[in-house]
Amino acid sequence: MLATKRVTLIIGGGIAAYKCLDLIRQLRAAGASVTPVLTRAATQFVTPMSVAALAGSQVYQDLFDLKDEAEMGHIQLSRASDLIVVAPATADLMAKMVGGHADDLASTLLLATDKPVLIAPAMNVRMWDHPATRRNLAQLRADGVQVIGPNSGDMACGEFGPGRMSEPAEIVAAIAAHTTPGPLTGKRVLVTSGPTHEPIDPVRYIANRSSGAQGTAIARALRALGAEVVFVTGPATVPPPEGVTLQRIETAREMLDACLAALPVDAAVMAAAVADWRIASDFTQKIKKGPQGIPELQLSENPDILATISTHTQRPRLVVGFAAETENVIAHATAKRARKGCDWIVANDVSPATGIMGGSENAVHLITETGTEDWPRLPKAEVATRLAARIAEALT
Ligand code: C5P
Repeated sequence: MLATKRVTLIIGGGIAAYKCLDLIRQLRAAGASVTPVLTRAATQFVTPMSVAALAGSQVYQDLFDLKDEAEMGHIQLSRASDLIVVAPATADLMAKMVGGHADDLASTLLLATDKPVLIAPAMNVRMWDHPATRRNLAQLRADGVQVIGPNSGDMACGEFGPGRMSEPAEIVAAIAAHTTPGPLTGKRVLVTSGPTHEPIDPVRYIANRSSGAQGTAIARALRALGAEVVFVTGPATVPPPEGVTLQRIETAREMLDACLAALPVDAAVMAAAVADWRIASDFTQKIKKGPQGIPELQLSENPDILATISTHTQRPRLVVGFAAETENVIAHATAKRARKGCDWIVANDVSPATGIMGGSENAVHLITETGTEDWPRLPKAEVATRLAARIAEALT
């Protein structure tokens, strides 16, 4: 997959550095050669000896190492690769990149390079959410740096949220996509997928039957064409695709926040089955059976994410919505396209008899400004491939 590709791997100083040993192994298994560079902080987490042994290469650490400079100067090192990968990209390394610092070998290489740079951030969730890191991330993207992750989940520091470095397999997939350009290379696409869960109380929730299969297939197809994909998913039953920036959420409001944080993007594909309503009151304790009788649950309306993105000042060039209907599919979907302000609607009939919701096939109609196209019943992966190709056409 990565035969003859030369990767310079800058390992930053964070606990996620331990995953780099596996990353090096996987990169080499995929055919790449790896030149490792360790920051001083990284040596607190992995030893140069293990990195060198797995990479089958010398490890570079010091800007002022006379022997290293004589063999391969830092400028040459910064260019003798097809791609520079920074993993884990710590908050400090990101800040240094934004500021153009060159006070150690890693930052100097990043400033001197003329090669594409891919970073895999990893840090405590508060550090990730800090306005300084948000600014730095936006600036790095504007500078053309590709970003993979971070994923959400339990963190070594005991907290939960976005900040976990992407898994080695995800990073390898992102590198493969990056080094083999496709029609969507350089384009950033937001995909929402899966259901949302709206809590009733701390133990119960309102959900729907969306499996996330179609949204996941679309994200995978866009990735395969080279797009950088931000994948915002509710609790789906299918595993998420690899090589995307994964944001796991539960509620519609969390999905909206994650989507807004992903802007700017070139296109947005909103395939999630977002709950229209949530429980109005905030039950902090489990609702108990008792003499007060059956609880009356009041609903309030969730934000419409598709409509919000379609009218946002940073509106993507192409916004694609979905319409899951059980009757008058085309009429309802056509009205929905106008009401939500999106460019295209992918409409399908989700009546139980169709077996589409949770199934492996889909029969969709693509509704655009020029009319309706009826696509044949196809595997969801095939629908995704066709849609991704159309998106590539529209963006190029
Ligand atoms: O209004 P309806 O739910 O049928 O519209 C479906 C489309 O709108 C889908 O693309 C879905 O992802 C999006 N949607 C949304 N926010 C909501 C409800 C639906 O983005 N609150």
